[in-house]
Amino acid sequence: MRHWIVLAALCCLLSPPGAPAQPTIPAEPFHDGLRGTTPLDEEAKPPLIFPTENKDVIRGRAYAQQPPTIPHKIDGYQVDKNANRCLSCHARSRAAESGAVPIGVSHYSDRSGATLGSLAPRRYFCTQCHVPQADTKPLVGNTFTDIEDIRVAPGPKPAAARRN
Ligand code: HEC
Ligand code: HEC
Repeated sequence: MRHWIVLAALCCLLSPPGAPAQPTIPAEPFHDGLRGTTPLDEEAKPPLIFPTENKDVIRGRAYAQQPPTIPHKIDGYQVDKNANRCLSCHARSRAAESGAVPIGVSHYSDRSGATLGSLAPRRYFCTQCHVPQADTKPLVGNTFTDIEDIRVAPGPKPAAARRN
């Protein structure tokens, strides 16, 4: 405890006389990522809620094993321990009637790789992986390129296998 007091006293001695106690912060107009320039004591005008895409057209996937995005609205679809509305159309047994894509084969394997006769519990909550889309301006830039669009320059041919 005592050396802190000594240190504090030293700091006071070393600082030039008349130095301001606090650094001055340049006056900048208030700006917050979410509120914009609305002052803290006023209510910001909420941005418009973008409509969910509902095109009935399956969207392409950006990479193999990507969970496909949901091309339709899912407002009010119950997915909880009592019921799974998604399965009323996407279950294999319902697909012919509903015209929905049946859930992928991977959805039947449990975490140890065993194939089950019904949906694996780890795939029950569909929206953990599948999400609907809205036609909005991206919040952050993205330079993702599909592997098929990356042109790899032809490298040297692999050397012929040596005969033993
Ligand atoms: C009323 C029937 C119905 C319900 C309920 C439903 N879907 Fe669909 N879903 C479809 C149909 C039909 C398609 C095919 C595209 C289209 O017509 O919109 C589809 C397409 C999809 C696709 C795209 C598949 C692909 O291969 O690209 C996903 C993912 C999907 N739905 C997920 C869900 C999830 C998750 C839920 C629950 C929150 C759900 N769906 C509820 C009928 C339904
Ligand atoms: C843990 C993540 C995860 C969960 C949870 C999940 N999925 Fe998927 N889903 C995927 C992935 C990854 C793919 C793409 C690879 C594949 O087909 O297995 C996929 C593929 C699909 C497809 C396309 C199948 C095809 O043959 O093109 C449909 C439809 C689908 N899921 C529906 C659902 C529904 C409905 C649920 C909920 C009952 C669900 N998924 C839960 C990850 C998930």
